[in-house]
Amino acid sequence: MQLIKGTRRRVATTLILGGVLAVSVLAGCSSTTTTGTSGPKGCKKIGVLLPETDTSPRWEQKDHPLLNAAITKALPGATIDFYNAVNNKDTQTNQAETALTKGDCILVVAPVDATASAAIVDKAKAQNVPVIAYDRLIQNDSLKFYVSFDNAQVGKLQGQYIADHYQKYVTQNGNNNLVMINGSKDDNNAILFHDGAHSVLDPLVSGGKLKLQFETYTPAWNNQTAQTEMEGALTTVSNKLAVAYVANDGMASTVIAALKAQGLAGKVLVTGQDATVVGFQNILLGNQAMTIYKAIGKEADATAQLVAALSNGTDTSSLATASIKLADGNSVPSVLETPVAVDLSNIASTVIADGYVTKADICQGVPAGTDGIC
Ligand code: BGC
Repeated sequence: MQLIKGTRRRVATTLILGGVLAVSVLAGCSSTTTTGTSGPKGCKKIGVLLPETDTSPRWEQKDHPLLNAAITKALPGATIDFYNAVNNKDTQTNQAETALTKGDCILVVAPVDATASAAIVDKAKAQNVPVIAYDRLIQNDSLKFYVSFDNAQVGKLQGQYIADHYQKYVTQNGNNNLVMINGSKDDNNAILFHDGAHSVLDPLVSGGKLKLQFETYTPAWNNQTAQTEMEGALTTVSNKLAVAYVANDGMASTVIAALKAQGLAGKVLVTGQDATVVGFQNILLGNQAMTIYKAIGKEADATAQLVAALSNGTDTSSLATASIKLADGNSVPSVLETPVAVDLSNIASTVIADGYVTKADICQGVPAGTDGIC
């Protein structure tokens, strides 16, 4: 008798929990279903999942506030739950589950891992929740949209900068050694940056103009790991180096520390990406040659437009005009913004003119009068 009572109580508890879940889902999104799942139509509860905090400042300093502003402007009344997975793919999956449980009915996900995050799209789909892959692609056919920059073009711009400037460094250093420090292989962008850069550099290498001595992907884009990689590379080339292709500013900064320790900072062409304050300080001090400026406000705006269209049930074909191929050959409707290469010659006319960084910030620690900018 007691056992039966206990069983009944458990069943009742489960039902009540289910009911609470259904209520919270329905609170965020108008729905005609009775199953506790809801479509994006009328959705005002948005979940935004960002990947990390420490290897690039962009996610918390730019993407987070810009997405917040853009989505609340495009979709009045929207509330946004922000999560950051601090570079842990399992944490991100848990965060997605929490977001869905809380009733978030459109998810914007910048994945830690392009493959592992496919499970997030499946879980969301089971609740009729669309996922927009933000900045980084997710390998899942059910992905609704992908919003990013033309990332192959990012790699091409980095490679082209080397192609246009390597000769000076080869002459100065008396060697033509090239080292390539790529990003995390779990991030589809890192592969696109790598491929784009190689499309420009490979002919120089096969033509004997540059000698590729060392190349690696860097797990989790970890900046300290990049420094260790460069230390090893410098040992391999007996400190003879002309060019260091480095995928982003965070890793460039630790690569420069490794160069500095061998008296090579400023003598080697170092690339970067993200138009960070530290990146510009390194450029102004002559230790880094260039960075890539990606106007994240545009990426956030494009994402917000899609979120609003999904919620309002309006046509998205004029918004997602590009498309990107998944590994399985299927395509995802996409928005791809345009990256810009920045060096000393155009800092003022690009990032400062746009208000992306301020002169005061990038000139901190840089002697007054440097490069006509500070
Ligand atoms: C982003 C870069 C960033 C890197 C590390 C990439 O997916 O596109 O802007 O530097 O991740 O966070």
